[in-house]
Amino acid sequence: MPSVDPMTADNVRIALVIGSVRSPRLADSLAAWLERELAPFDWLDLDLIDLASIPLPMHTLQPGGTADSPIAGRLADADGFVFLTPEYNHSFPAPVKNVIDWHFTEWAYKPVAFVGYGASGGIRAVEQLRTVFPELRATTIRESVLLPMAWEHLDAVGRFVPPPGTVEALHTMMTELRTWADALRSIRVAEPTGRT
Ligand SMILES: Cc1cc2nc3c(=O)[nH]c(=O)nc-3n(C[C@H](O)[C@H](O)[C@H](O)COP(=O)(O)O)c2cc1C
Repeated sequence: MPSVDPMTADNVRIALVIGSVRSPRLADSLAAWLERELAPFDWLDLDLIDLASIPLPMHTLQPGGTADSPIAGRLADADGFVFLTPEYNHSFPAPVKNVIDWHFTEWAYKPVAFVGYGASGGIRAVEQLRTVFPELRATTIRESVLLPMAWEHLDAVGRFVPPPGTVEALHTMMTELRTWADALRSIRVAEPTGRT
């Protein structure tokens, strides 16, 4: 059960999940950019979840959610999610699937948004994730941010410099994410566990 009462919380709590666990990784530049862009959003409480530093061993996976997840509470407290995902071999990276599989009720009746990156903006990773989340009773939202060839948009110190239209796309996505997060709060209260 979430420790935050979803009906009385004013702000929207969004977990930003970094899907790459490589080192080095482009994800660091993009996550830092997202944090900078999202910091002024006064309605938003952002929780950065870096899968590179969270042990979720695959051999203990259980259907319906695995016991002793170190991030179950943080995911449960979130009103919605943004997945920052690269595209690997025309799909999303294994750690993204692993964190999804490790949890169950934590995703239920919450919206999921995507910031994708890759040669084609990570579109294949994003679209494939849309086929996964309904099983967890999560809804993926229409708007997304796709960052084609993001590695070509770094400055001299490795900071991501977004091409024209990118910040606007992020704002549009976050507005839609907020709308869904607000709307789904009432459903979560009525059906808190997400189990049948
Ligand atoms: C195993 C692997 C497979 C990849 N496959 C694709 C691919 O299918 N399409 C694509 O656009 N980029 C692909 N790439 C390139 C990644 O999108 C690019 O390296 C990106 O920066 C990876 O993000 P990261 O550095 O944050 O892990 C691949 C990279 C890796 C490591």
